Amino acid sequence: MSLSAVFILDVKGKVLISRNYRGDIDMGVIEKFMPLLIEKEEEGTVTPILLTDSCTFAYVKYNNLYIISVTRKNVNIALVFVFLHKLVQVMIEYFKELEEESIRDNFVTIYELMDELLDFGFPQTTDSKILKEYITQEAHKLEIIPVPPMAVTNAVSWRSAGIKYKKNEVFLDVIESVNLMANATGHVLRSEIVGVVKMKVHLSGMPELRLGLNDKVLLEGTGRGKVKSVELEDVKFHQCVRISRFEDDRTIFFVPPDGEFDLMSYRLNTQVKPLIWIESVIERHAHSRVEYMIKAKSQFKRRSTANNVEVIIPVPADADSPNFKTGVGSVKYVPEQSVIIWSIKSFPGGKEFIMRAHFGLPSVVAEDSEGRPPIQVKFEIPYFTTSGIQVRYLKIMEKSGYQALPWVRYITQNGDYQLRTN
Ligand SMILES: *[C@@H]1O[C@H](CO)[C@@H](O)[C@H](O)[C@H]1NC(C)=O
Repeated sequence: MSLSAVFILDVKGKVLISRNYRGDIDMGVIEKFMPLLIEKEEEGTVTPILLTDSCTFAYVKYNNLYIISVTRKNVNIALVFVFLHKLVQVMIEYFKELEEESIRDNFVTIYELMDELLDFGFPQTTDSKILKEYITQEAHKLEIIPVPPMAVTNAVSWRSAGIKYKKNEVFLDVIESVNLMANATGHVLRSEIVGVVKMKVHLSGMPELRLGLNDKVLLEGTGRGKVKSVELEDVKFHQCVRISRFEDDRTIFFVPPDGEFDLMSYRLNTQVKPLIWIESVIERHAHSRVEYMIKAKSQFKRRSTANNVEVIIPVPADADSPNFKTGVGSVKYVPEQSVIIWSIKSFPGGKEFIMRAHFGLPSVVAEDSEGRPPIQVKFEIPYFTTSGIQVRYLKIMEKSGYQALPWVRYITQNGDYQLRTN
């Protein structure tokens, strides 16, 4: 089943609010509803379902309101009515009274409710008594309806009811990995940022979360294009995120699973300035020795610091007698991998450090036939994203009204980060 649209009309047939779910009908069809109803009333053949040649109206009346669904043919009408009654019930719970005024006063909330109910199916946001009634009804219906349609099932399969925490907290980490390939003369040949938003959720009940990012499309849409914003590409979400909502207004709205999960990932194909840049001078004296001068430069802001930096420098497989000199960090030779690793625990922005290495080479060699593998760099820069993405807010709503603390962290790290050498 799929509802095309839902309308709420006043007693005269004027539209108070509407929601177009599928875009597959002309919203103007609602003009036909009231004349058709009046006609039926006059005939004395009123039914809760009215047919036109292009669609079917199924409606319920509450106080002076008509709550009407519009569908195209072949829907499970029982489910449609369950949905309509559910909508009415939820609105009563939210607004105490359901009448014309409560619709006008709560336009935004109703719009959201309509969205949620259909995205998630029935019960989630409501009183648990009702919830149980519907779950049993659903279960009963399942015998009759072999395939319960997405739109009307209790679809929060990723979270169970009754979760309880003493302290309600949410941890959100924005982790960006930088993939970068530069050639020996320092040109960035390829660079991209791959971001993941990781969450750890310790929340009781059935919370609804809303995450606001400095997303370019969103900020421009709201006339706030001047705020620093980021154009995300290739965005993928965890199944809990209501995609239709994101497509409509870029809101990231979800009932989270309990514990840890990846909320979303994204990609940015932008020219990234290498955060850590390596200059290398490698002098090979065949049959005798090879000497390295490696300069590492941090090209990010001074107030940031890269942690656990590792510069991994390939050396010939047959090198021996290593000798290192550096003022900062430590160097070790890993012969199994034919590399030396220069480790710097803490590398502040705007600095440069130098390391020198010296190896002996055997007098008989099969030199360099395998080409020269690139230098790799590993690092982590906390409190910093390369893309500039920021969490503007993380709202947590739960019907019991508890206060929950959101903790947000940012980190940029290396992905596939390679610098070719001469
Ligand atoms: C690096 O790339 C630039 C731009 O593509 C090119 O001009 C330069 O010759 C390249 N250097 C090497 C050593 O390949």
